[in-house]
Amino acid sequence: MTSTHWFLAISALVVLAAFAYLYAVTWIESRQAQQLESKQPYASTTGSESRKAVVYFSRSGNTALAARHVAKRLDAQLFSLEAPDYELGMAGLAKAVKDANARRSQPEVLPDITPRTIELTPFDTVWLGSPVWLYSPAPPIWAFVEHNRFDGQHVVLFNTFNSHIGEDYIAKFKAKVMARGAKSFEHRHVLRGRMTQQLTPEQMLQAIDDEWFGEQARP
Ligand SMILES: Cc1cc2nc3c(=O)[nH]c(=O)nc-3n(C[C@H](O)[C@H](O)[C@H](O)COP(=O)(O)O)c2cc1C
Repeated sequence: MTSTHWFLAISALVVLAAFAYLYAVTWIESRQAQQLESKQPYASTTGSESRKAVVYFSRSGNTALAARHVAKRLDAQLFSLEAPDYELGMAGLAKAVKDANARRSQPEVLPDITPRTIELTPFDTVWLGSPVWLYSPAPPIWAFVEHNRFDGQHVVLFNTFNSHIGEDYIAKFKAKVMARGAKSFEHRHVLRGRMTQQLTPEQMLQAIDDEWFGEQARP
């Protein structure tokens, strides 16, 4: 084989390996999302007196499960944000990586989310949930902060993630929330571990009870 043939053969192998990796990731994500959907159902009652809201974006269901758990514990109103660009599957995953990467140099470029705004004035505490993408809270939760105000409210950002969060992004997120009127800010996170060695959903909820709610969580 000539060096050109070697080069082409190795390039083809690299592309194939990348494709196989992406395929495996999307397969695991879809399976997780299916398994998590029915866990810890929670429907907030409209007209409830609760002064706490939980607003979240989740692509593969882990942050959604955390959000339902938090909302249940706090008897809070629960709101889900949809971002059609990032649906489960290869196209959604590729777009998620592309947009999360683009935000580093162009933070003003934000995805479409539904709903864009939520009437938050009845609440004194707003929990904002998101997965971490490329070390930062995912673009949809940044979009939500950009389109809403948090005047006089306590805001709690909560993240589920596999391995690493960039503290600089959390500092920027806090600055953004404070600039949108918040009175105070906290950050909560749950480390799920890398794929194939992750916490089970039950372990994740236990970690949330222990680490986010401390003594209150214990019977
Ligand atoms: C595009 C993309 C980028 C990610 N980047 C990171 C990262 O930088 N650090 C990390 O710990 N986890 C990262 N993850 C893993 C997710 O944060 C983690 O699996 C999260 O719990 C998924 O939440 P969800 O099921 O609510 O979507 C990434 C996931 C995706 C899809």
